[in-house]
Amino acid sequence: MVATARKKGGRRLAAEVPGSGGIPRVRTYIEGLDERMQGGIPAGSVVLVSGVSGTMKSSVAFNILFNEALRGNNGLYLTLEQSSESFITHLKSLGFAIDKVDMVVVSSVVELDSKLSELKSGKSAIVLADMSILRKGASKRVDIGASSLVSMVRNFVIRMKAANFGIFVLDSLSAFYIISKFESPRQDLFNFFGFLRDSGVTSLLISEMPLKRDRYGDYEIEEFLADGVIKLDLVERQRKVTREISVVKMRATKCSNDVFSLEFDKGRFRALYGGQPPLI
Ligand SMILES: Nc1ncnc2c1ncn2[C@@H]1O[C@H](COP(=O)(O)OP(=O)(O)OP(=O)(O)O)[C@@H](O)[C@H]1O
Ligand SMILES: [Mg+2]
Repeated sequence: MVATARKKGGRRLAAEVPGSGGIPRVRTYIEGLDERMQGGIPAGSVVLVSGVSGTMKSSVAFNILFNEALRGNNGLYLTLEQSSESFITHLKSLGFAIDKVDMVVVSSVVELDSKLSELKSGKSAIVLADMSILRKGASKRVDIGASSLVSMVRNFVIRMKAANFGIFVLDSLSAFYIISKFESPRQDLFNFFGFLRDSGVTSLLISEMPLKRDRYGDYEIEEFLADGVIKLDLVERQRKVTREISVVKMRATKCSNDVFSLEFDKGRFRALYGGQPPLI
């Protein structure tokens, strides 16, 4: 048993368990990994979930959000990539029992306000903020501008925080960059990461890695700005492809940096064979 949730102010908070270093932590809900990282991600961290296409970045992030919501720590998933319909179909195909939570789809901050006011207190909820339309707009060169996109994302986070939601997922940082061309990316990203950290919510930022796997984020500073980096990969050996996961970095955490095989079966992620020679 890795974590036991505690209640404070009517809301369950990330677990503080023996071995956690006295820090409340959010589990990754990947069996075999949490045990090797003092119980999970320090609550309030900004964590990159990086990997090449199809490595289950979105699924791993949603799995955290879903399991936290079931335990009373609600969250918001902001998608700039897949539409909500396509994402929900994917989640159902993976076997997530999403009817166990209130799954609220919104497409603007105004809609979020009204839906939040309708939410029953004490009910597990996930807000799926579907802004994939912006990505479609970007491909048609409809530029909404960096500052308005950043302020929109900030507004989502401010609202969810006010509603006591604890987990924020941005899918993806890469789409965020495509839609908004930052004028001074280093400064803008420094400010954005700082804002997320100050907000106190635990942020999972999904980042598309290039096939060369030579950087965790497009501007090559994301891994320094983030508190943690979780890398997902697909590795081909002797005509077999294995999913792999490693924690490249996690501040305030004594963790294994071994590479694990990542398995997904019956709605559960497992990290196996860390540090051992690959199975072929
Ligand atoms: N039931 C399943 N069991 C295991 N893997 C599955 C299942 N259904 C889909 N997948 C795998 O999940 C992958 C997609 O997952 P996900 O969308 O989370 O990945 P991603 O890294 O976010 O992808 P993208 O780069 O397209 O955003 C697919 O490559 C598919 O092989
Ligand atoms: Mg994805």
